[in-house]
Amino acid sequence: MYVDAPNQVIEAGGGVRYADRRSGVAGLPPPPLLLLQDEDEDDGRRTTDDERTEDMRVVIAGGHGQVALRLERLLAERGDTAVGLVRRPEQTGDVRDAGAVPVLCDLESASVAEVAAHLRDADAVVFAAGAGPGSGAERKDTVDRGAAVLVADAALAARTGRFLMISGKGVDGSPPAGTDPVFAAYLRAKAEADDHVRAHASLGWTILRPGRLTDEPGTGHVTLGPSTPEGSVARDDVAAVLLALLDEPRTAGRTLDLIAGGTPVTAAVRTAADG
Ligand SMILES: NC(=O)c1ccc[n+]([C@@H]2O[C@H](COP(=O)([O-])OP(=O)(O)OC[C@H]3O[C@@H](n4cnc5c(N)ncnc54)[C@H](OP(=O)(O)O)[C@@H]3O)[C@@H](O)[C@H]2O)c1
Repeated sequence: MYVDAPNQVIEAGGGVRYADRRSGVAGLPPPPLLLLQDEDEDDGRRTTDDERTEDMRVVIAGGHGQVALRLERLLAERGDTAVGLVRRPEQTGDVRDAGAVPVLCDLESASVAEVAAHLRDADAVVFAAGAGPGSGAERKDTVDRGAAVLVADAALAARTGRFLMISGKGVDGSPPAGTDPVFAAYLRAKAEADDHVRAHASLGWTILRPGRLTDEPGTGHVTLGPSTPEGSVARDDVAAVLLALLDEPRTAGRTLDLIAGGTPVTAAVRTAADG
């Protein structure tokens, strides 16, 4: 057993209990003290971006994912607070190394109330979890659909107000005949999760649909819009686009395809917001 935050005790089995039950969302455990920050406190961590006057607290579901860790680094570098929800204690070190606050939360067993407690005081939530390659149809349903629905419902309960969903290009519509059954289950899971999110305007959602993800170094340039050709995109650039989307609430209500391209990320996001 070890203490991950002053009031949060993470137990060997992955359970979390709270040593100090301060007031919080009714009936919910409070978030770790490390997640609390005095609203009036000016710690000098201000961005150079003139449009940003407040630091953000962003909770990333699936916080040990490859895109998630990149986004956590970008947020930490500019002084925002990133919180990564991870399912295994051995993942917490990498999240800390990325500059984020790790919180143990298995999105296949947590309740809406538990996740909502972690979202208290968050400015935004990013759903970056995924069952990943090698998983079967069942986990496509429990993670790619179920965990996304859970986090969306928690964001509604916590009234978070901004929700970024990492979906995938081409998930709408029926998978063509002959599609590998597990890939078809993945496409269906992503599509159903997106439908759930889009049914709740108060989430302030933006759905980002990248093409095939690569580990190539990011270029800082992308193609982003309601529909793009087939293509791939570097995880670095996906993280950069997510960061820019967090800064551009006018992209709420938009579903955006993303592949590699020639437009600087900030300009691409601004154009998407204007469109
Ligand atoms: N790969 C592609 O070409 C592609 C294309 C378009 C979109 N996407 C989507 O893009 C997103 C990010 O991709 P990525 O490459 O960064 O994914 P990734 O590296 O596979 O990360 C997914 C993360 O979700 C976590 N996770 C799984 N089950 C969980 C649970 N029950 N509770 C908490 N966390 C859980 C995983 O943890 P564990 O390591 O413990 O399993 C992992 O850290 C995913 O949603 C993916 O579906 C991928």
